[in-house]
Formats: sequence, structure tokens, C-alpha cells
Amino acid sequence: MKSNTFLIWDLPTRLFHWLLTTGFIAAALIAFLAEEESRLFPYHAILGLALLLMVVLRLVWGLIGSRYARFGSFLFGPRAVFIYLKEAFLGGSTRHNGHNPGSAYAIFGMLALVLGISITGIMLSLGDKGIKEAHEVLSYALMAVAVIHVLGVVFHTLRHRENITLSMVTGRKECEPAEAIASARPVAAAIFVVLLAAWTFGLFSNYDAATNTTRLPLIGTSLRLGENGQHDLRTQDRNKTGNRARKHDDD
Ligand code: HEM
Ligand code: HEM
Repeated sequence: MKSNTFLIWDLPTRLFHWLLTTGFIAAALIAFLAEEESRLFPYHAILGLALLLMVVLRLVWGLIGSRYARFGSFLFGPRAVFIYLKEAFLGGSTRHNGHNPGSAYAIFGMLALVLGISITGIMLSLGDKGIKEAHEVLSYALMAVAVIHVLGVVFHTLRHRENITLSMVTGRKECEPAEAIASARPVAAAIFVVLLAAWTFGLFSNYDAATNTTRLPLIGTSLRLGENGQHDLRTQDRNKTGNRARKHDDD
């Protein structure tokens, strides 16, 4: 680790980032690759509901978190974005220890999109089939913004020869010691992990394969996570048994 690097990203922010990234990729892969009737499809909604809690907790952290995690530290006006983009393409570089004006807009967009996708997903699961298109459009929009975000990270990495992806892992960046945060906030990180694990565990343990539904922990609302998979499996089993019985009759 370079000696002139100091702590910028607290642990809750780093955990949030990598859990959000993994959960989003997994939820999207299941949505595209698994049949709605498959055993895997309910995991799509459960992952999506985990992402919802992550973003809700990130919104709280954006108000009470450490310096660079707070939304106030990356609220930039259009002028700052214009200057940032001009410098990015024409040269010159104002340094930002936290999020820069370019990534800030993508970040707010991604947080809002996860909320929109989860809310429309919940409406779908409550039986509002008309909202399906909105759920899909918002999902595609998030994929597009996430791709732009990653391209932005690659661009920054090459242009400034600064491994900001590694910074999102270690929390450290090159900066003046006085600009660093004092603590990685491990207690807040532990609370984040415990709340997320409890919520996800609750969603799993409330899951009823026979009806393909789960109940939201503490809230109690019942959600249907796709088509009734178990019913279809039972029908397949009945067909298989029927076929076997017919085979015996033939013997
Ligand atoms: C593997 C690909 C990814 C890499 C390498 C990556 C890297 C990064 C980096 C370096 C930052 C800090 C940016 C800055 O310095 O301003 C960041 C922030 C962020 N990224 Fe990613 N990212 C990836 C995928 C994603 C995906 C798929 C999403 C959303 C679905 C996402 C959402 C975010 C959010 C919300 C932040 C802000 C973190 C916070 O302040 O809480 N990222 N990412
Ligand atoms: C970031 C998270 C999510 C992403 C990227 C996402 C994406 C998608 C996509 C692309 C589809 C269409 C799949 C297809 O056409 O076969 C879909 C369908 C669906 N999603 Fe999500 N979704 C997310 C979260 C959720 C959540 C939180 C729920 C419910 C609580 C949910 C419930 C559903 C349901 C029930 C369908 C099937 C709709 C139907 O065909 O009737 N999703 N999702």
C-alpha cells in the first residue's frame, strides 16, 4: 500500500458498493436467463428486495455517514459537471477526493433507479401486471447507467493513472492526511450487515414454495415471486407418474 494514501471511503460505503454490484448483476442475470416458472426465478425478487434495503440504508448513510459518504459532499450543480467534462476531454484536472461531479450524477441516478425497480417489482408481485413494462424499462435504464459508470471508472483510471476500483476495496486514496476520514466506521458497517442479513434471511424463511410467495419481514405484506413454480413441478411430477403407470400397464 502506498504510504501517501489515506482513508476516504468508510466501510459501510464499500460494503454497500460491492454488495449492490453483485446483487444487481445476479438479479439481472436471473431475470434474463431463468424462465419465470423455474425454481431460480424467486431469487430474482429476493435479491431485488435485498437491493431495496441496501439503498434505503445508503440513503440514511448519505445523511449521517462520514465526510465523503454524505450526499452533501457530492451535490454538484450543472456548472461543476460542465467544467469536469471540459477538463476530462480538453485537459486540466481539478482533484476530487470523494465522488467527482461526473460520477455523482450517475450515482444519484443509480440509487433512484434501484428504488424505482424495486417498487415496480413489488407492484408486479402484488398482481399489477400493467407495471411490467415500467419494471423492465427501469431495469434497462439501470443497466445503461451502470455501463456508463464503469466506462467512466475505466476512463478515470487510465487518464489519471489512479486505481479508484482498488480504492473502493481498501478505502484509501492518495491525498493530504488532513483530508482523510478518521475511522472506517466498523460499527455502522456491522449494523448494515446484520440488518441486511436479517432482512434477506426473513425473506427466505417466509418463502413458501407451494404458493411461490414470501412475506416482507416486519411489514407482513405477501408477495408472489413469479409464476407458481411448485404447481408446475407438481404437474410435471403427476405427468411423470402417469407416464410410468401407463408404461406398467403396457408391460
Ligand atoms: C465491476 C464493475 C464496477 C466497478 C469497477 C465500479 C467502481 C466504482 C468506483 C471506483 C466508484 C467510486 C467512484 C468515484 O470515485 O466517484 C463507484 C461508486 C459507485 N458505484 Fe460502482 N463500480 C462497478 C459497478 C457498479 C454497478 C453495477 C453499480 C450499480 C448497479 C454501481 C453503483 C455504484 C454506486 C451507487 C456508487 C457510489 C457509492 C457510494 O457512494 O455509496 N457500481 N463504483
Ligand atoms: C435490481 C433489481 C431487479 C432487476 C434488474 C429486475 C429486472 C427484471 C426484468 C428484466 C424482468 C423481465 C424478465 C423477462 O422478461 O423474462 C423482470 C421481471 C420480474 N420481476 Fe424484476 N427486477 C428486479 C427486482 C425485482 C423485485 C424487487 C421484484 C419483486 C419484489 C421483482 C419481480 C419481478 C417479477 C414478478 C417479474 C416477472 C414479471 C412477469 O413476467 O409477470 N423484480 N425483472
